[in-house]
Formats: sequence, structure tokens, C-alpha cells
Amino acid sequence: MKLRVALYGGSELASAADALGLIAADAGTAALALIDLREPGSVAQAATLPAELPRVVVADEAQIELAGALGMLKRSVARSCDAAELGPLIAATVPARRRQATRSVLVTSVRGGVGRSLLAANLARRLAPTRSTLALDVTGGGALAWWLGSTAATWADLEGLRDELSAEHLGVVATEAAPGLRVVGGPPSAPTAGLARSALRAALELSEIAIVDAPTLADERTRQLLGAVDRVIVLSYDDPVSIAALAASDIPEDAWLVASQSAATSLSARDVFRTLPRAEAAIAAAASRPSAVGGALGRAYDELAEIVAIDST
Ligand SMILES: Nc1ncnc2c1ncn2[C@@H]1O[C@H](COP(=O)(O)OP(=O)(O)O)[C@@H](O)[C@H]1O
Ligand SMILES: [Mg+2]
Repeated sequence: MKLRVALYGGSELASAADALGLIAADAGTAALALIDLREPGSVAQAATLPAELPRVVVADEAQIELAGALGMLKRSVARSCDAAELGPLIAATVPARRRQATRSVLVTSVRGGVGRSLLAANLARRLAPTRSTLALDVTGGGALAWWLGSTAATWADLEGLRDELSAEHLGVVATEAAPGLRVVGGPPSAPTAGLARSALRAALELSEIAIVDAPTLADERTRQLLGAVDRVIVLSYDDPVSIAALAASDIPEDAWLVASQSAATSLSARDVFRTLPRAEAAIAAAASRPSAVGGALGRAYDELAEIVAIDST
């Protein structure tokens, strides 16, 4: 059961989740909340969860009586943290129709130079062996193709097509960087927002997954693409300037906030979804070929790619 679950309880609940192969997640990205009402503090924590998030609760006798009197679904209440008891309740509670599969991921930030291009390239490299992937560089800088060891055709040549850009057109200009991996968007200029939107649409006709290396959140291209993609990753440093900019930004509620070269667990009052360690040597090694980044940073990229792959099915 590769299900993402928000956990509110003690070590008993954590080991049951582990035994069931559940993935601990924050409430924003979880499909379900698992709450041990017998643990001090968990009631207060769970009370702040969105009402629409499905719950399975573990409760004592008195709490179960209360739940029954309030007309709560009996099938979502367990008497213990026993994995054998929780498993069937969880299966019965998860909505049958899960969220739409993720096919497009956009990487953005509040400021430049935070590692977006490197993250986008490394996600694309990791997804491509199992899902046909199109890497779209909307920045105009060409870093995405560079990290993929390739060169991409300039956007300027496509600007005339803008709204009529078809999957066939995109297929012709896309460069194959590796098996299952194509890249679009070369320097020296960024596409207009309209071209960026039609390129994304065409990319999703051509490939199973589109990874977008986007400018900052302040950019018109990024703003227009935010609503068109399935998943937004906001990469951020934990410095005061970035935190102030995050606070002032309009970030989609379900975006993944990823801390760059930082171990912060929250930034500007938002939960950090994953952290990326500082890794100069591994990046220098990857740049010399160029190839996928390894080491601890590579493992963090592996994990993110794995979650995107799970969401894409
Ligand atoms: N985790 C990291 N540790 C150390 N250096 C990093 C890390 N991530 C990115 N960098 C470096 O930061 C610089 C900017 O990265 P890049 O991916 O081009 O950022 P962006 O696309 O956000 O502008 C590059 O020189 C890159 O090698
Ligand atoms: Mg970049």
C-alpha cells in the first residue's frame, strides 16, 4: 500500500504505518490522516486538518462510544494500533477515486540560483527510464539541456507558431538527450507565456511526463503555467530574503516546498516537503560529464523522483 498518510500519534502508530508500508506525509499531500486519539496532543493537532481529508482514528472505549453517539463512521475507528486492524480500515476509507495522476511538474522559486535547473534535470533523468519524459526549459538560459548533456533548439524558432504549436512540431524540435528523455527550450531567449503554455500542452501529448524548469514565481510565464501543471515544486533557500519573499508569494496550497542546501523543516510558516543537502563535490563531478548527481543530494533527488513516479500512476 504505497499510500501517503499524515500521522498524528506515538511510536505505536508510527510502527504500524511502517509495517503497512505507508509513506508519512504532511497534511497537504496526504491522501488520509491516521490519528491515535489516545495520544496526548494528537486531538488538538488533528483538529487543524482540513475537513475533507479522510481520517482513520484509533480510540479508547469511551471515545468510541462518543464517536458512535456523534454518528461517526464506525468503519473508520480502530481499537488499537494493530496493523492487521488498521490495514482494512484504511483500505475502506481511502477515496476510491484518488487524485488525478501527476503528469506535469513545474520547478520554480522566489529567487534565482537556488538549484531549480539541477533539480529539474535530475528529476527528468530519473523518471525517463520508466516514463517517457519531456524536459521543458522555460527560462531561456539553456541550463536544463546543458545538465542533460544536450543542446536544445532555441525558442525563437517556435514563436511564430505560438497557439498552433502541435505535438508534431514539438516532436520535431525536441532533442533526444537519452532513451525516453527529450528536451525543449534553448537560449538565448525565454518563450512568451503563450508559447510556454502551448509547449506544455504539446509536451503532454508527446510524453507521459513533462518536467518544467521555470523562472521565478514573479515571472509571467511561471504564473500562467502554475494553473496548468499537476504539481508545483517551490525550491527555496532558508535565508531571510527568501523567507520574506515566500511570505509575500502566492504559492499554490498543494505545492511542495523543498529547502535547498538547508535542513529547515519549515520556511515562512509552511511545512518543508523535502530538503536537499549542499553537495558541491557531487555537483562538480556531475558537471564534468555531465551526468546525474550522486551522493546524498542524488539520493534526495531519487526520493523526489520516486514520489513523482508514484503520483504519476
Ligand atoms: N544542493 C546544492 N549544493 C551545492 N550547490 C548547488 C546545489 N544545488 C545547486 N547548486 C549550485 O547552485 C548554482 C545554481 O543552480 P541552478 O540549478 O542553476 O539554479 P537555478 O536554476 O535555480 O538558477 C549552480 O552553480 C549549482 O551547481
Ligand atoms: Mg536555472
